[in-house]
Amino acid sequence: MTSAPQPLVDARDVNVWFDLPDGRELHAVRGADVRVNSREKLGIVGESGCGKSTLLMALMGLLPATASVSGRIEVMGADLLAGGERAFRAHRWKDLAIVFQGAMNALNPVIRVQRQIVEALELHEVASGMAAVHRASDLVRLVGLPEGVLRKFNHELSGGMRQRVSLAMALACDPRVLLADEPTTALDMMVAAQVLALIDRLTRELDLALVLVTHDLPLVTRTCDRIQVMYAGTVVESGTPADIYHQPQHPYTRLLFAATADVHSDGPDPVTILGAPPRLDQVVPGCAFEPRCPHSQARCATDVPQPQSAGKGRSWACHYPGEST
Ligand SMILES: Nc1ncnc2c1ncn2[C@@H]1O[C@H](COP(=O)(O)OP(=O)(O)OP(=O)(O)O)[C@@H](O)[C@H]1O
Ligand SMILES: [Mg+2]
Repeated sequence: MTSAPQPLVDARDVNVWFDLPDGRELHAVRGADVRVNSREKLGIVGESGCGKSTLLMALMGLLPATASVSGRIEVMGADLLAGGERAFRAHRWKDLAIVFQGAMNALNPVIRVQRQIVEALELHEVASGMAAVHRASDLVRLVGLPEGVLRKFNHELSGGMRQRVSLAMALACDPRVLLADEPTTALDMMVAAQVLALIDRLTRELDLALVLVTHDLPLVTRTCDRIQVMYAGTVVESGTPADIYHQPQHPYTRLLFAATADVHSDGPDPVTILGAPPRLDQVVPGCAFEPRCPHSQARCATDVPQPQSAGKGRSWACHYPGEST
């Protein structure tokens, strides 16, 4: 019997709370699991504020001091939450790297691209001196930029070039898993498509696994091997794109995808999901989607639905799965 390969990332029952200035807590991530296998592309989708970025930052161990995290976060078999900052530091950037949401606007405006990349390489002890300078040249070429970019400042670059530099910096330590948090949000459609094609090519050429957070549902359906749908801090459904698109079990998944216009299709006009997600600084007694759910029943308002697994990464958290809209 052959055992299943060990996942590169295996996070279970991750919870994140932020301390608020008024003494209350905001429960941003609620029992989320994330499993990423070698060379796998996982898409994470869900409305704004549902905890996607917070979950990625928890995996990186980069949440602010006001956050507390519980659960289990394993990267390459190492239990990082148990090992603390020392364990995170051993794997951060080297095994698990991230292109932050808004990264292209966070590059230092007064330092040339070359020095930014060299400083990152030296900080993470990948290379120093001339070796770091050469590695910086290799990295900009890897992301499809001319070497002249190394002498430029941030403001001299287009949005697409800046995002490529952010990508080069994330790849500096040769990671196994790349987390990309809305890497194309601020880019126009043509440039976004080029950056996505680049990420796709690099994941193949560098044997990377990818976790892609995006609001672009047609994109995630086309490019990812698995999709996780988040709502109010919880992973409410996960499966292959075919599962999620053709056989959604959670009413939120169905409505979310129905609410997305696909310009390439002649299908029905998109619908809107009435209402708004709940505030995460308040306790939700039952299913967080209950107030907006067209199929809610009495139990939904009082009992939190537990995730049901159908094997092979397929799961959902709904008391009445599969009810059609
Ligand atoms: N540092 C923080 N302190 C307090 N609350 C925070 C902090 N960072 C995030 N939050 C809250 O945590 C929740 C999840 O936020 P998060 O940024 O993870 O959502 P998201 O799914 O990435 O949204 P978007 O699609 O807009 O990027 C939100 O309610 C947000 O206001
Ligand atoms: Mg975000």
